[in-house]
Amino acid sequence: MSAPAWGDLDRWITRTIAPDPFEGALRASAEAGLPAYDVSPAQGALLEVLARSVRAERVLEVGTLAGYSALWLARSGARVVTLEVSEAHARVARANFARAGLADRIELVVGSAADTLPSIEGPFDLVFVDADKPSNPLYLEHALRVARVGALIVVDNVVREGRVLDGSSDDPSVRGVRALFDRVEREPRLRATAIQTVGAKGHDGFLIATVLG
Ligand code: SAH
Ligand code: DHB
Ligand code: MG
Repeated sequence: MSAPAWGDLDRWITRTIAPDPFEGALRASAEAGLPAYDVSPAQGALLEVLARSVRAERVLEVGTLAGYSALWLARSGARVVTLEVSEAHARVARANFARAGLADRIELVVGSAADTLPSIEGPFDLVFVDADKPSNPLYLEHALRVARVGALIVVDNVVREGRVLDGSSDDPSVRGVRALFDRVEREPRLRATAIQTVGAKGHDGFLIATVLG
């Protein structure tokens, strides 16, 4: 199967079983000139399914961008706290939350997550890490601090077209993902896997872990 068909299949999934109520947010993001780093619509639907599956009441997200993934997470019924370093991105996200009628369920905290995370208190039922990849190990420490037993920790972009396999890579994002895997490997409180994904966003993947009691 060729890469172009991945996008066609993603669009088919979205058209049939997982319609996207937040297309307006993606349009506003593109119009504001933000990078298209949002999860795909089908991946957004996965985030909602995961949040519902753990009956999430509170979700923490690191890396808001235009708020697209936060909207899917909030659609589960959970309250979402989302962290973003860029005021320009946060402005677009706030408008997107308001347009979707979900602003009262999403709290946006502006600042570098390394600075804002220490004052974030749990418990959270799901933590979605999707910001600067070199900081993944730091974000995992905070996720472990605030996640309740049985919570899900989900990390985006852990495959990157397979580049993460290269142990001698000097790409800081690859190194961040590999350090994250090392940390998860040694963490007895986590039971984890990763799923590779193909689709409109190419070949990438999510790490998905559950916090043991
Ligand atoms: N979760 C979003 C995409 C996030 S893109 C979605 O799927 O819709 C990554 C975001 O992380 C960008 O907006 C970027 O500005 C933000 N970011 C980068 N470094 C950060 C940091 N140190 N603290 C908080 N956010 C950061
Ligand atoms: C990129 C993609 C992402 O999903 C993300 O969170 C950050 C960066 C990228 O394509 O570079
Ligand atoms: Mg991402």
